[in-house]
Amino acid sequence: MAKNHTIHCKDERATAEAVRILANAILAFYAPTPQKSQSLFISLDGDLGAGKTTATRYLLQAMGYGGKVKSPTYSLCEEHILDLPNEALHIFHFDLYRMQSPEEWVEAGLLEHFTQSENPTLCIIEWPGKAESTLPAMDLSITLMHPNQQESELARTVAIEANTVKGEAILQSITSRSH
Ligand SMILES: Nc1ncnc2c1ncn2[C@@H]1O[C@H](COP(=O)(O)OP(=O)(O)O)[C@@H](O)[C@H]1O
Ligand SMILES: [Mg+2]
Repeated sequence: MAKNHTIHCKDERATAEAVRILANAILAFYAPTPQKSQSLFISLDGDLGAGKTTATRYLLQAMGYGGKVKSPTYSLCEEHILDLPNEALHIFHFDLYRMQSPEEWVEAGLLEHFTQSENPTLCIIEWPGKAESTLPAMDLSITLMHPNQQESELARTVAIEANTVKGEAILQSITSRSH
């Protein structure tokens, strides 16, 4: 099964479209029946301004979330609750950029969002490298890249890598929806 998929986006609308396909694959993952322990972990890598927060905003909107998605730069973590047909999905959006050491999120109890299984959970993490070895295994690792010099300032490359069986299932769903 494919473990990598790369999407070239010529502008922000194209990024929104790529993320919409990911949103549909994620919704399909949570859809079957209420499974309280269902969880999905996604990391977002890329330079400042690459579009990690923007992509997260489009992702949540495409999943049907109507609330504001502000950057968790200062709070480290923003929680959103999305009502799905069968269940309430708890979405935790992290931005670890400002973290000085991995102990910060451990001591703040934020790792518990990865282990508590009362609710279906989606964790999205910007700057996962800041968590060093405390980072749990990610189902999908997504990297957003700025364009090379020949391209428009608005172009981005979105590289998606699946690291787990769950991640591979989502990736397969994306590739089948992209055609
Ligand atoms: N193709 C694109 N995809 C995503 N963002 C884009 C694109 N083109 C331009 N942008 C802009 O780039 C900026 C990305 O900022 P942000 O999402 O905060 O980045 P990050 O969270 O990676 O630091 C936003 O101002 C967004 O409007
Ligand atoms: Mg950001």
